[in-house]
Amino acid sequence: MRIAKIFLMALIVSPLMGSTADKVHQSKLLQYDKQIDGIISQMTLEEKVEMLHAKFMFVSAGNERLGIADVKYADGPFGIREEMQPKGWAGLGWETDKATFFPTGSALAATWSPELAYQYGTGMAREARLRGKDMILGPAINIQRIPTGGRTYEYLSEDPFLSSRLAVGYTNGVQENGAAVCLKHFALNNQENNRGTVNAIIGERAMREIYFPPFRAAVEEADAFGAMSAYNKVNGFWCAENEILLNKILRQEWGFAGMVISDWGGTHSTVGSVKAGLNVEMPSKQYLGQALIDSVKAGKVSEEIVNLRVREILRVRLAIKAIPEKEANKEMTSQPAQQKIAYDVASKSIVLLKNEGVLPLQLKNKPIIAVIGANATQIMASGGMGAGVKTLYEVTPLEGLKNRIGDKAEIIFAKGYEPVKFSWGRKTPEQLEKEKQEKELVANELIKEALEMAAKANVVLFIGGDNRSVETEGSDRKDIFLPSGQDELIRKIAAVNPNIVTVLTSGAPNDLNVVKPLSKALLISWFNGTEGGNALADVLIGNISPSGRLPFTIPVKLEDSPAYALGNYPQGIKKADVFAKLVAETETVDKPKDEASKSNDPNTANYSEESLVGYRWFDTKNVKVMYPFGYGLTYSTFEYSGLKTNKEKYGKDDVISISIVLKNTGKVAADEVAQVYVHRINPSEEWPQKELKAFSRIPINPGESKTVILEIPVKNLQYWNGKKHAWDDDLCKIEVEVGASAGDIKLKKELTLK
Ligand code: BGC
Repeated sequence: MRIAKIFLMALIVSPLMGSTADKVHQSKLLQYDKQIDGIISQMTLEEKVEMLHAKFMFVSAGNERLGIADVKYADGPFGIREEMQPKGWAGLGWETDKATFFPTGSALAATWSPELAYQYGTGMAREARLRGKDMILGPAINIQRIPTGGRTYEYLSEDPFLSSRLAVGYTNGVQENGAAVCLKHFALNNQENNRGTVNAIIGERAMREIYFPPFRAAVEEADAFGAMSAYNKVNGFWCAENEILLNKILRQEWGFAGMVISDWGGTHSTVGSVKAGLNVEMPSKQYLGQALIDSVKAGKVSEEIVNLRVREILRVRLAIKAIPEKEANKEMTSQPAQQKIAYDVASKSIVLLKNEGVLPLQLKNKPIIAVIGANATQIMASGGMGAGVKTLYEVTPLEGLKNRIGDKAEIIFAKGYEPVKFSWGRKTPEQLEKEKQEKELVANELIKEALEMAAKANVVLFIGGDNRSVETEGSDRKDIFLPSGQDELIRKIAAVNPNIVTVLTSGAPNDLNVVKPLSKALLISWFNGTEGGNALADVLIGNISPSGRLPFTIPVKLEDSPAYALGNYPQGIKKADVFAKLVAETETVDKPKDEASKSNDPNTANYSEESLVGYRWFDTKNVKVMYPFGYGLTYSTFEYSGLKTNKEKYGKDDVISISIVLKNTGKVAADEVAQVYVHRINPSEEWPQKELKAFSRIPINPGESKTVILEIPVKNLQYWNGKKHAWDDDLCKIEVEVGASAGDIKLKKELTLK
């Protein structure tokens, strides 16, 4: 209770939570308000409350009497989920609900292409509409804070700027094609272990500069119509009843005019939730059903608040045209146009980390290619306990290679290891022991077979990595090692055939210490959707050049990454000094002191690394990485030159325009992703060593030079002033650093902000 009071008082005394004192974004949803007045005036309290909770597992009610259709939701974020029992999770077994499986979040982010994110959104919306759905439960845009995070594969990036650009693209793509997005999970759902109980303790600045930007951008720049409150608490308050997050920041500051739905089972109260800004309790009616009617009648919450929540839903309902039941589901969900988008994204997402001249694969003399690894034949559209896609088809890596290579090579396959399978419930020690023995027997057989294949091949294509049982919603990975004994297997393969090309189909970072030196070439090809196998084969044989760039840092070892290095994950290790500093800096506004004393609690995650997430940490602390953020090779080479800016000194409202010349100095066409980082030379505030502020993906033919313009509004260089609770300028000398990754800066220039 005391915490609540401190928190609310802070809100009252600090009305300046606003962005840049700019005018608040005006949502086009506001145009329906007059019409909505008329609708609400005809509704009884019971009818209104009926709209504020689930009707079915993925439906919330409209009002039949007044001709208001139900709102139909679909998971998201990387394919339209199959039709399910109205009140359960089991599929209905339809034929026509097979959807396109789009590459998952980290794959999309690896394209570094807001245009492809837009296409992706377009594709998602088209399939949602074929199925009669109004709102897609995506994009999933939490920041990848810890490499082990169970949903890293669903989320986009460790960097807020890259995440923001893609979130805007995705949102526009969806909403320009007739469906609404639901930005999830607002906010700070950065771990899956204890996600339903964990309390994220975080300072204002990191929240504003690192974790909020993708949400803010999707609201302010793309007018997102929906958001999902996260399971966890933020600074002591459940996200679904978090006045600061929902009412103050999302609605008042950013101008969000749409509806907030709870994550499934993530509602905790009646009056608190409805007052704080939650519109719909999913997928039940424990709090926003009869309990709400009773609360209104008892005077605990006014009917005006209920009206407001109904209004916000109606705005979305009126903006998104309902599809009558008889018009939906007439055709197969997955369609060629969307499959093409899935291919385009997949083919531009694959990241080449290493290539000692073995790629593209030479097929001239009909080589024997030994494809080894269970990931070569695994389906990644579903698994674990996350939202799956019942996909029309998914081309596995092995199928893709066979499709594209045909009889130009002899392809032989060995599974190599038994992949991890997700299982519910606990096993007895006897069962576990029996399983272990059986596994060892199988493993020996699989290894033997793999080594025989490797020995007779010209080249080994090792296709390993995680799968959807390893990276899963609901739990984080214990470590980032390759599962199923893959390191051991590759060591043995290298002893019989060192000509190894390794492809990892993972959605998150793996430990590469064993696999990197033993591989002549190394690639990440993600959980890459319906067309993933074809895209991979096209890259491997050189039909296209690889062009993906890492959306996250790959650490040398897990313990180097910030939340691990500081003991902030798993929770429970108190770093009193860092934490005390944070508390002092932000006072009680976002850091209730009672919470501080609880920081040994396993349900408390102290974000004491503050803004030093991902490369910001590694760069600032000078920690060596395995591969830096933004890294990725192509089959060509590029030369960066001629860095110019339009001025030398910039005022607060100026735009820094940077031009560079990029030349393809290799022999094949390829895309380069030019990245601009900003380093502060003499700041008044503390900053990370450098931060991504602009980027551009440019296709260039061999021998061709292109002038590339990259722009940074000086406003985008502001910091969140925790004392003023507002964005502020830190006008100082800066260095713009242009390069091919966070670890490969090619050109620099000093500028002055005044
Ligand atoms: C997930 C959401 C998802 C919902 C419905 C929850 O467990 O966190 O992302 O949309 O389930 O499937």
